[in-house]
Amino acid sequence: MLKYLKAGLLGLAAVAATGSAFAADIVEGEKVFHKCAACHTIGEGAKSRVGPQLNDLFGRRAGTIGGFKYSAAMVAAGEGGVVWDEQTLTQFLVKPRDLVKGTKMAFAGLKKSADIANVIEYLKTFDPEMAATVSGGETGEEAGKEIEVAKAETPAPARPSEPDHEGGLGLGRRATADEISAWDIDVRPDGLGLPPGRGTVAEGEELFSENCAVCHGDFGEAVGRWPVLAGGQGTLADERPVKTIGSYWPYLSTVYDYIRRAMPFGNARSLSDDDVYAITAYLLYLNDVVTEEDFELSSDNFAGVRLPNESNFVEDDRASEPEYAAGKEPCMSDCKPGPVTITMRARILDVTPDANDDDEENAGGGID
Ligand code: HEC
Ligand code: HEC
Repeated sequence: MLKYLKAGLLGLAAVAATGSAFAADIVEGEKVFHKCAACHTIGEGAKSRVGPQLNDLFGRRAGTIGGFKYSAAMVAAGEGGVVWDEQTLTQFLVKPRDLVKGTKMAFAGLKKSADIANVIEYLKTFDPEMAATVSGGETGEEAGKEIEVAKAETPAPARPSEPDHEGGLGLGRRATADEISAWDIDVRPDGLGLPPGRGTVAEGEELFSENCAVCHGDFGEAVGRWPVLAGGQGTLADERPVKTIGSYWPYLSTVYDYIRRAMPFGNARSLSDDDVYAITAYLLYLNDVVTEEDFELSSDNFAGVRLPNESNFVEDDRASEPEYAAGKEPCMSDCKPGPVTITMRARILDVTPDANDDDEENAGGGID
Protein backbone atom coordinates (compact mmCIF):
# COMPACT_ATOMS: atom_id res chain seq x y z
CA MET A 1 0.00 0.00 0.00
CA LEU A 2 2.69 2.45 1.00
CA LYS A 3 4.57 1.62 -2.15
CA TYR A 4 1.45 2.24 -4.14
CA LEU A 5 0.82 5.63 -2.54
CA LYS A 6 4.37 6.70 -3.18
CA ALA A 7 4.16 5.69 -6.79
CA GLY A 8 0.90 7.60 -7.03
CA LEU A 9 2.46 10.74 -5.63
CA LEU A 10 5.38 10.72 -8.01
CA GLY A 11 3.12 10.06 -10.95
CA LEU A 12 0.89 12.93 -9.98
CA ALA A 13 3.84 15.21 -9.41
CA ALA A 14 4.76 14.55 -13.02
CA VAL A 15 1.27 15.70 -14.01
CA ALA A 16 1.70 18.82 -11.88
CA ALA A 17 4.85 19.67 -13.78
CA THR A 18 2.81 19.92 -16.96
CA GLY A 19 1.00 22.84 -15.36
CA SER A 20 -2.55 21.53 -14.94
CA ALA A 21 -4.44 23.55 -12.31
CA PHE A 22 -6.32 20.47 -11.11
CA ALA A 23 -3.20 18.41 -10.70
CA ALA A 24 -1.79 20.78 -8.08
CA ASP A 25 -4.89 20.17 -5.99
CA ILE A 26 -4.47 16.43 -6.21
CA VAL A 27 -0.87 16.61 -5.10
CA GLU A 28 -1.91 18.76 -2.13
CA GLY A 29 -4.81 16.38 -1.57
CA GLU A 30 -2.47 13.44 -1.38
CA LYS A 31 -0.57 15.21 1.40
CA VAL A 32 -3.82 15.82 3.26
CA PHE A 33 -4.70 12.16 2.80
CA HIS A 34 -1.71 11.22 5.01
CA LYS A 35 -3.99 12.15 7.90
CA CYS A 36 -6.64 9.74 6.66
CA ALA A 37 -4.08 7.04 5.91
CA ALA A 38 -3.70 6.32 9.61
CA CYS A 39 -7.05 4.55 9.28
CA HIS A 40 -8.00 4.29 5.59
CA THR A 41 -6.39 2.69 2.56
CA ILE A 42 -7.06 3.56 -1.06
CA GLY A 43 -5.82 2.38 -4.44
CA GLU A 44 -5.06 -1.05 -5.83
CA GLY A 45 -5.62 -3.79 -3.26
CA ALA A 46 -6.97 -1.35 -0.64
CA LYS A 47 -8.56 -3.15 2.30
CA SER A 48 -10.72 -1.87 5.14
CA ARG A 49 -8.62 -1.36 8.27
CA VAL A 50 -9.56 0.97 11.12
CA GLY A 51 -11.83 2.65 8.57
CA PRO A 52 -13.43 1.33 5.37
CA GLN A 53 -11.41 1.34 2.12
CA LEU A 54 -12.12 4.46 0.07
CA ASN A 55 -11.99 3.31 -3.59
CA ASP A 56 -15.07 4.08 -5.75
CA LEU A 57 -16.39 6.38 -3.06
CA PHE A 58 -18.54 8.71 -5.15
CA GLY A 59 -22.12 7.50 -5.36
CA ARG A 60 -21.48 5.05 -2.50
CA ARG A 61 -24.31 4.98 0.01
CA ALA A 62 -22.80 5.67 3.46
CA GLY A 63 -21.98 2.61 5.53
CA THR A 64 -22.21 -0.04 2.84
CA ILE A 65 -18.77 -1.63 2.33
CA GLY A 66 -19.28 -5.34 3.00
CA GLY A 67 -17.27 -6.86 5.81
CA PHE A 68 -16.55 -3.53 7.51
CA LYS A 69 -18.14 -3.01 10.93
CA TYR A 70 -19.69 0.45 10.74
CA SER A 71 -21.27 2.28 13.66
CA ALA A 72 -25.05 2.08 13.85
CA ALA A 73 -24.98 5.83 13.19
CA MET A 74 -23.19 5.44 9.84
CA VAL A 75 -25.49 2.66 8.70
CA ALA A 76 -28.50 4.77 9.69
CA ALA A 77 -27.07 7.75 7.78
CA GLY A 78 -26.85 5.62 4.64
CA GLU A 79 -30.34 4.29 5.11
CA GLY A 80 -31.51 7.84 5.67
CA GLY A 81 -30.19 8.83 2.24
CA VAL A 82 -26.58 9.97 2.75
CA VAL A 83 -24.68 9.16 -0.44
CA TRP A 84 -21.04 10.26 -0.74
CA ASP A 85 -20.52 13.07 -3.21
CA GLU A 86 -18.62 16.33 -3.20
CA GLN A 87 -21.23 18.02 -1.02
CA THR A 88 -21.78 15.31 1.61
CA LEU A 89 -18.03 14.64 1.84
CA THR A 90 -17.37 18.35 2.39
CA GLN A 91 -19.89 18.43 5.23
CA PHE A 92 -18.53 15.20 6.71
CA LEU A 93 -14.87 16.20 6.58
CA VAL A 94 -15.41 19.58 8.26
CA LYS A 95 -16.67 17.82 11.36
CA PRO A 96 -17.59 14.16 10.94
CA ARG A 97 -19.83 14.14 14.01
CA ASP A 98 -21.94 17.01 12.72
CA LEU A 99 -23.07 15.10 9.64
CA VAL A 100 -23.16 11.66 11.24
CA LYS A 101 -23.85 12.09 14.94
CA GLY A 102 -22.37 9.08 16.72
CA THR A 103 -19.92 8.06 13.96
CA LYS A 104 -16.96 6.09 15.22
CA MET A 105 -14.55 7.91 12.89
CA ALA A 106 -12.26 9.37 15.57
CA PHE A 107 -11.22 12.36 13.51
CA ALA A 108 -11.82 15.95 14.53
CA GLY A 109 -12.22 17.23 10.97
CA LEU A 110 -10.20 19.32 8.54
CA LYS A 111 -10.03 23.00 9.43
CA LYS A 112 -9.01 24.44 6.06
CA SER A 113 -11.57 24.33 3.26
CA ALA A 114 -8.73 24.09 0.73
CA ASP A 115 -7.59 20.86 2.43
CA ILE A 116 -11.10 19.45 2.10
CA ALA A 117 -11.41 20.40 -1.58
CA ASN A 118 -7.96 18.98 -2.30
CA VAL A 119 -8.48 15.68 -0.52
CA ILE A 120 -11.81 15.22 -2.31
CA GLU A 121 -10.04 15.86 -5.61
CA TYR A 122 -7.51 13.21 -4.63
CA LEU A 123 -10.24 10.72 -3.64
CA LYS A 124 -11.81 11.20 -7.08
CA THR A 125 -8.71 9.82 -8.77
CA PHE A 126 -9.56 6.44 -7.22
CA ASP A 127 -13.11 6.45 -8.57
CA PRO A 128 -13.15 5.49 -12.25
CA GLU A 129 -16.28 7.57 -12.95
CA MET A 130 -15.02 10.69 -11.21
CA ALA A 131 -11.48 10.38 -12.49
CA ALA A 132 -12.74 11.63 -15.85
CA THR A 133 -13.41 15.01 -14.23
CA VAL A 134 -9.90 15.51 -12.87
CA SER A 135 -6.47 15.93 -14.43
CA GLY A 136 -7.47 14.83 -17.90
CA GLY A 137 -9.15 11.60 -16.91
CA GLU A 138 -6.22 10.00 -15.19
CA THR A 139 -7.04 7.52 -12.44
CA GLY A 140 -4.82 7.08 -9.44
CA GLU A 141 -4.05 3.65 -10.77
CA GLU A 142 -2.97 4.95 -14.16
CA ALA A 143 -0.79 7.51 -12.43
CA GLY A 144 0.80 4.61 -10.62
CA LYS A 145 1.48 2.81 -13.89
CA GLU A 146 3.01 5.88 -15.40
CA ILE A 147 5.64 5.90 -12.73
CA GLU A 148 6.46 2.25 -13.35
CA VAL A 149 7.48 3.31 -16.85
CA ALA A 150 9.35 6.32 -15.58
CA LYS A 151 11.21 4.11 -13.11
CA ALA A 152 12.29 1.74 -15.83
CA GLU A 153 13.89 4.64 -17.67
CA THR A 154 15.87 5.96 -14.72
CA PRO A 155 19.36 4.47 -14.71
CA ALA A 156 20.03 2.23 -11.73
CA PRO A 157 22.25 3.88 -9.10
CA ALA A 158 25.89 2.92 -9.48
CA ARG A 159 26.83 -0.01 -7.28
CA PRO A 160 29.74 0.36 -4.92
CA SER A 161 32.51 -1.51 -6.67
CA GLU A 162 34.64 -2.76 -3.77
CA PRO A 163 34.40 -6.47 -2.97
CA ASP A 164 31.54 -6.75 -0.49
CA HIS A 165 31.98 -9.92 1.51
CA GLU A 166 35.45 -11.11 2.09
CA GLY A 167 35.21 -14.86 2.23
CA GLY A 168 31.43 -14.66 1.85
CA LEU A 169 29.14 -15.81 -0.92
CA GLY A 170 29.54 -12.63 -2.92
CA LEU A 171 25.84 -11.84 -2.66
CA GLY A 172 24.30 -8.42 -2.10
CA ARG A 173 26.27 -5.23 -1.61
CA ARG A 174 27.50 -3.08 1.21
CA ALA A 175 24.85 -0.72 2.63
CA THR A 176 25.61 2.87 1.70
CA ALA A 177 26.28 5.51 4.35
CA ASP A 178 22.88 7.08 3.60
CA GLU A 179 21.08 3.79 4.03
CA ILE A 180 22.79 3.18 7.34
CA SER A 181 22.08 6.65 8.67
CA ALA A 182 18.39 6.31 7.72
CA TRP A 183 18.17 3.20 9.91
CA ASP A 184 20.54 4.28 12.65
CA ILE A 185 18.21 6.58 14.58
CA ASP A 186 18.16 5.15 18.09
CA VAL A 187 18.58 7.61 20.95
CA ARG A 188 20.25 6.61 24.23
CA PRO A 189 19.16 7.86 27.67
CA ASP A 190 22.30 10.01 27.86
CA GLY A 191 21.26 11.72 24.62
CA LEU A 192 23.68 9.92 22.32
CA GLY A 193 22.07 9.61 18.88
CA LEU A 194 19.90 12.73 19.14
CA PRO A 195 19.76 14.79 15.96
CA PRO A 196 20.40 18.53 16.30
CA GLY A 197 17.19 20.52 16.67
CA ARG A 198 14.76 22.35 18.93
CA GLY A 199 11.08 22.97 19.59
CA THR A 200 8.87 24.69 22.17
CA VAL A 201 5.85 23.55 24.15
CA ALA A 202 3.64 26.04 22.27
CA GLU A 203 4.81 24.77 18.88
CA GLY A 204 4.32 21.21 20.07
CA GLU A 205 0.75 21.89 21.16
CA GLU A 206 -0.20 22.89 17.63
CA LEU A 207 1.56 19.92 16.03
CA PHE A 208 0.03 17.56 18.57
CA SER A 209 -3.50 18.72 17.94
CA GLU A 210 -2.99 18.31 14.18
CA ASN A 211 -1.21 14.97 14.19
CA CYS A 212 -1.88 13.14 17.42
CA ALA A 213 -5.01 14.38 19.16
CA VAL A 214 -7.41 12.37 16.95
CA CYS A 215 -6.21 9.28 18.80
CA HIS A 216 -4.46 10.46 21.95
CA GLY A 217 -6.82 13.35 22.82
CA ASP A 218 -5.95 17.07 23.01
CA PHE A 219 -4.32 16.62 26.42
CA GLY A 220 -2.98 13.10 26.01
CA GLU A 221 -6.04 11.73 27.82
CA ALA A 222 -6.77 9.45 24.81
CA VAL A 223 -9.83 9.09 22.60
CA GLY A 224 -11.63 5.79 23.21
CA ARG A 225 -9.13 3.01 23.75
CA TRP A 226 -6.07 4.57 22.07
CA PRO A 227 -3.13 4.86 24.50
CA VAL A 228 -3.12 7.51 27.25
CA LEU A 229 0.00 9.69 27.15
CA ALA A 230 -0.35 11.86 30.26
CA GLY A 231 -1.42 11.64 33.90
CA GLY A 232 -1.57 8.51 36.01
CA GLN A 233 1.02 9.71 38.53
CA GLY A 234 0.73 7.78 41.78
CA THR A 235 -1.29 4.90 40.29
CA LEU A 236 1.52 2.40 39.74
CA ALA A 237 0.68 0.42 42.89
CA ASP A 238 -3.03 0.33 42.05
CA GLU A 239 -4.74 -2.74 40.71
CA ARG A 240 -5.11 -0.98 37.33
CA PRO A 241 -2.08 1.30 37.04
CA VAL A 242 -2.21 4.06 34.41
CA LYS A 243 1.22 3.82 32.82
CA THR A 244 2.12 6.97 30.93
CA ILE A 245 5.23 8.92 30.02
CA GLY A 246 4.81 10.91 33.25
CA SER A 247 3.84 8.09 35.58
CA TYR A 248 5.94 5.24 34.30
CA TRP A 249 8.53 5.82 31.57
CA PRO A 250 12.10 6.14 32.91
CA TYR A 251 13.78 8.15 30.16
CA LEU A 252 12.84 10.99 27.85
CA SER A 253 15.02 9.49 25.10
CA THR A 254 12.43 6.74 24.64
CA VAL A 255 9.73 9.35 24.05
CA TYR A 256 11.75 11.10 21.37
CA ASP A 257 12.91 7.88 19.76
CA TYR A 258 9.46 6.26 19.76
CA ILE A 259 7.64 9.25 18.30
CA ARG A 260 10.27 9.84 15.63
CA ARG A 261 10.28 6.15 14.71
CA ALA A 262 6.62 5.16 14.98
CA MET A 263 4.17 8.08 15.18
CA PRO A 264 1.78 9.35 13.97
CA PHE A 265 0.42 5.81 13.76
CA GLY A 266 0.07 4.88 10.08
CA ASN A 267 2.26 7.75 8.93
CA ALA A 268 5.52 7.09 10.73
CA ARG A 269 8.67 9.09 9.88
CA SER A 270 6.62 11.98 8.52
CA LEU A 271 7.65 14.48 11.23
CA SER A 272 10.80 16.62 11.08
CA ASP A 273 13.36 16.35 13.89
CA ASP A 274 12.29 19.80 15.15
CA ASP A 275 8.62 18.70 15.13
CA VAL A 276 9.54 15.77 17.35
CA TYR A 277 11.42 18.06 19.78
CA ALA A 278 8.36 20.33 19.96
CA ILE A 279 5.92 17.46 20.49
CA THR A 280 8.19 15.90 23.11
CA ALA A 281 8.30 19.28 24.88
CA TYR A 282 4.49 19.43 24.80
CA LEU A 283 4.27 15.92 26.29
CA LEU A 284 6.58 17.05 29.11
CA TYR A 285 4.16 19.93 29.67
CA LEU A 286 1.09 17.66 29.65
CA ASN A 287 2.85 15.52 32.26
CA ASP A 288 3.75 18.53 34.45
CA VAL A 289 7.48 17.91 34.04
CA VAL A 290 7.82 21.44 32.63
CA THR A 291 5.33 24.22 33.33
CA GLU A 292 6.17 27.06 30.93
CA GLU A 293 4.61 27.21 27.46
CA ASP A 294 7.78 28.85 26.14
CA PHE A 295 10.00 26.05 27.43
CA GLU A 296 12.22 24.98 24.54
CA LEU A 297 13.54 21.44 24.32
CA SER A 298 16.69 21.05 22.23
CA SER A 299 19.57 18.70 21.61
CA ASP A 300 21.51 20.87 24.10
CA ASN A 301 19.24 20.64 27.16
CA PHE A 302 17.64 17.25 26.41
CA ALA A 303 19.91 15.03 28.52
CA GLY A 304 19.27 17.25 31.56
CA VAL A 305 15.52 16.54 31.64
CA ARG A 306 14.52 13.80 34.11
CA LEU A 307 11.22 11.88 34.13
CA PRO A 308 9.55 11.42 37.54
CA ASN A 309 9.69 7.60 37.64
CA GLU A 310 13.34 7.14 36.67
CA SER A 311 14.50 6.26 40.18
CA ASN A 312 12.12 3.30 40.38
CA PHE A 313 14.07 1.53 37.65
CA VAL A 314 17.20 -0.32 38.77
CA GLU A 315 20.32 -1.25 36.88
CA ASP A 316 20.57 -4.85 35.74
CA ASP A 317 22.79 -6.25 38.52
CA ARG A 318 22.91 -9.88 37.44
CA ALA A 319 26.59 -9.59 36.63
CA SER A 320 27.30 -9.28 40.35
CA GLU A 321 25.56 -12.55 41.22
CA PRO A 322 27.92 -15.34 42.42
CA GLU A 323 27.75 -17.49 39.29
CA TYR A 324 28.94 -14.54 37.20
CA ALA A 325 31.34 -13.12 39.78
CA ALA A 326 34.99 -12.31 39.13
CA GLY A 327 34.88 -12.80 35.41
CA LYS A 328 33.69 -16.41 35.71
CA GLU A 329 32.27 -17.48 32.34
CA PRO A 330 28.77 -18.95 32.65
CA CYS A 331 28.72 -22.63 31.68
CA MET A 332 26.85 -23.20 28.42
CA SER A 333 27.50 -26.91 27.65
CA ASP A 334 28.19 -30.18 29.47
CA CYS A 335 27.72 -28.35 32.76
CA LYS A 336 26.64 -31.41 34.73
CA PRO A 337 28.84 -34.46 34.94
CA GLY A 338 27.13 -37.76 34.06
CA PRO A 339 23.91 -38.46 32.18
CA VAL A 340 20.90 -36.15 32.46
CA THR A 341 17.83 -37.67 34.14
CA ILE A 342 14.31 -36.41 34.69
CA THR A 343 13.63 -36.20 38.42
CA MET A 344 10.38 -34.24 38.51
CA ARG A 345 7.52 -33.29 36.22
CA ALA A 346 5.31 -30.27 35.80
CA ARG A 347 2.19 -31.12 37.74
CA ILE A 348 -0.40 -28.99 36.04
CA LEU A 349 0.73 -28.46 32.51
CA ASP A 350 1.79 -32.01 31.76
CA VAL A 351 4.53 -30.68 29.53
CA THR A 352 7.11 -33.51 29.84
CA PRO A 353 5.65 -36.73 28.42
CA ASP A 354 7.85 -39.80 29.00
CA ALA A 355 8.24 -43.02 27.07
CA ASN A 356 5.12 -44.77 28.42
CA ASP A 357 3.35 -41.49 29.23
CA ASP A 358 2.85 -42.42 32.87
CA ASP A 359 2.66 -39.09 34.65
CA GLU A 360 1.63 -40.19 38.13
CA GLU A 361 4.84 -42.03 38.87
CA ASN A 362 7.20 -39.07 38.98
CA ALA A 363 4.80 -36.27 39.84
CA GLY A 364 6.83 -33.45 41.35
CA GLY A 365 8.37 -31.35 38.58
CA GLY A 366 11.91 -30.59 37.39
CA ILE A 367 15.01 -31.82 35.61
CA ASP A 368 18.24 -32.81 37.26
C1 HEC B 1 -8.74 7.71 13.39
C2 HEC B 1 -9.18 6.94 12.25
C3 HEC B 1 -9.74 7.70 11.04
C4 HEC B 1 -9.20 8.79 10.40
C5 HEC B 1 -7.93 9.54 10.76
C6 HEC B 1 -10.09 9.08 9.30
N1 HEC B 1 -11.11 8.19 9.27
FE1 HEC B 1 -12.65 8.13 7.90
N2 HEC B 1 -13.50 6.62 8.93
C7 HEC B 1 -12.98 6.00 10.05
C8 HEC B 1 -13.93 5.04 10.56
C9 HEC B 1 -13.74 4.15 11.79
C10 HEC B 1 -15.05 5.11 9.71
C11 HEC B 1 -16.37 4.36 9.88
C12 HEC B 1 -17.25 5.32 10.65
C13 HEC B 1 -18.53 4.75 11.19
O1 HEC B 1 -18.83 3.57 10.93
O2 HEC B 1 -19.21 5.50 11.90
C14 HEC B 1 -14.74 6.11 8.69
C15 HEC B 1 -15.59 6.45 7.65
C16 HEC B 1 -15.27 7.30 6.62
C17 HEC B 1 -16.08 7.54 5.46
C18 HEC B 1 -17.41 6.89 5.16
C19 HEC B 1 -17.15 5.74 4.21
C20 HEC B 1 -18.32 4.84 3.98
O3 HEC B 1 -18.08 3.72 3.48
O4 HEC B 1 -19.45 5.22 4.27
C21 HEC B 1 -15.40 8.44 4.68
C22 HEC B 1 -15.85 8.99 3.36
C23 HEC B 1 -14.18 8.76 5.35
N3 HEC B 1 -14.13 8.05 6.53
C24 HEC B 1 -13.21 9.62 4.87
C25 HEC B 1 -12.10 10.03 5.60
C26 HEC B 1 -11.15 10.99 5.12
C27 HEC B 1 -11.18 11.66 3.77
C28 HEC B 1 -10.24 11.17 6.13
C29 HEC B 1 -9.05 12.12 6.17
C30 HEC B 1 -9.35 13.51 5.95
C31 HEC B 1 -10.59 10.27 7.21
N4 HEC B 1 -11.72 9.59 6.85
C32 HEC B 1 -9.89 10.12 8.39
C33 HEC B 1 -11.76 6.26 10.63
C34 HEC B 1 -10.93 7.33 10.32
C1 HEC C 1 -4.38 6.78 14.34
C2 HEC C 1 -4.15 6.82 15.74
C3 HEC C 1 -2.85 7.42 16.26
C4 HEC C 1 -2.31 8.64 15.95
C5 HEC C 1 -2.82 9.69 14.98
C6 HEC C 1 -1.12 8.76 16.78
N1 HEC C 1 -0.96 7.65 17.55
FE1 HEC C 1 0.43 7.36 18.99
N2 HEC C 1 -0.25 5.51 19.31
C7 HEC C 1 -1.26 4.90 18.61
C8 HEC C 1 -1.29 3.48 18.92
C9 HEC C 1 -2.23 2.45 18.36
C10 HEC C 1 -0.24 3.26 19.84
C11 HEC C 1 0.19 1.94 20.47
C12 HEC C 1 1.11 1.29 19.47
C13 HEC C 1 1.67 -0.02 19.97
O1 HEC C 1 1.60 -0.30 21.17
O2 HEC C 1 2.22 -0.74 19.14
C14 HEC C 1 0.37 4.55 20.08
C15 HEC C 1 1.40 4.75 20.98
C16 HEC C 1 1.98 5.97 21.22
C17 HEC C 1 2.94 6.22 22.27
C18 HEC C 1 3.41 5.21 23.28
C19 HEC C 1 2.40 5.12 24.40
C20 HEC C 1 2.74 4.11 25.45
O3 HEC C 1 2.59 4.43 26.64
O4 HEC C 1 3.13 2.98 25.10
C21 HEC C 1 3.31 7.52 22.17
C22 HEC C 1 4.31 8.26 23.04
C23 HEC C 1 2.58 8.09 21.05
N3 HEC C 1 1.77 7.12 20.51
C24 HEC C 1 2.70 9.38 20.61
C25 HEC C 1 2.05 9.87 19.48
C26 HEC C 1 2.29 11.17 18.93
C27 HEC C 1 3.26 12.18 19.51
C28 HEC C 1 1.49 11.30 17.83
C29 HEC C 1 1.42 12.45 16.86
C30 HEC C 1 2.67 12.82 16.24
C31 HEC C 1 0.72 10.09 17.73
N4 HEC C 1 1.10 9.23 18.73
C32 HEC C 1 -0.28 9.86 16.77
C33 HEC C 1 -2.15 5.54 17.77
C34 HEC C 1 -1.98 6.80 17.25
